Amino acid sequence: MEANFSYPAEYYDEDYTIGVPDRGDIPFYREYALKQGSPILELACGTGRILVPIAQSGIECYGLDFNREMLAICETKARALNLKNIHLQFASMDNFHYDQKFSLIYIPFRSFQHLLTNEEQIRCLHLVREHLKDDGRFLLDVFAPNIDRLASYGKKGEGWEKEFSRKNEQTESTITRYFQARADLAAQIISVVMKWEERNSSGELVAKKEGNFRLRYIFRYELEHLLVRSGFTPALFGHFDERPYDYISGETVAVCAKS
Ligand SMILES: C[S@@+](CC[C@H](N)C(=O)[O-])C[C@H]1O[C@@H](n2cnc3c(N)ncnc32)[C@H](O)[C@@H]1O
Repeated sequence: MEANFSYPAEYYDEDYTIGVPDRGDIPFYREYALKQGSPILELACGTGRILVPIAQSGIECYGLDFNREMLAICETKARALNLKNIHLQFASMDNFHYDQKFSLIYIPFRSFQHLLTNEEQIRCLHLVREHLKDDGRFLLDVFAPNIDRLASYGKKGEGWEKEFSRKNEQTESTITRYFQARADLAAQIISVVMKWEERNSSGELVAKKEGNFRLRYIFRYELEHLLVRSGFTPALFGHFDERPYDYISGETVAVCAKS
């Protein structure tokens, strides 16, 4: 399958630590990793935003991703921290193999939504089940689709929306991220296009980057059906603090055992 995610990898970590508010997901995934014990597997691990802090807790960590630039950043971080317990693989979430089973498998930060068809979703969930120990746990988070936003994404003609500005820690210039989103309401797919403009202290444009991805949005009961159909017993929550699902928080967090 074709990778459905393009992002300037060198911007990713600082975008999600300085640019946008803390998601609060790292402690959630790390606590489950500590509770379940080694080995653990993150699908779509990217730059290791979550995998690296878990590896620093001494857990044997496996990660896969379909983007070589993101994986290279994860590798560089592991090397800089002298972490020998991170094992990375270039593979797709719906087509991977390991010769071992895991105590914990998780797909954080809505990455499961990059699988756009029922077939891809089911293939991925079957592989997760196959690679999970009988007493293992499977975790994932997706966004709770916001009906008002979807309605506006369904209309044509909206321009660029500014998301955030942040300092580039290395060059002292300012990076601003803009986005545009369109929704195919029948296919439940949101297409996001992003651009980054980096300006020096005189306001001159010194770098311009682009990225894009598509996300299949998944409603709460749809997720529950999908997980049950794939052999899991899920508990659904409204945030990483495991509050009841409330729609308002914007998050759907699933904690699954094998059924
Ligand atoms: C929002 S990032 C999340 C990265 C990391 N898990 C985190 O929490 O920061 C989404 C990641 O999903 C990866 N991805 C998208 N489709 C994929 C697929 N089919 N198989 C593996 N990785 C995929 C992208 O390459 C990207 O690294």
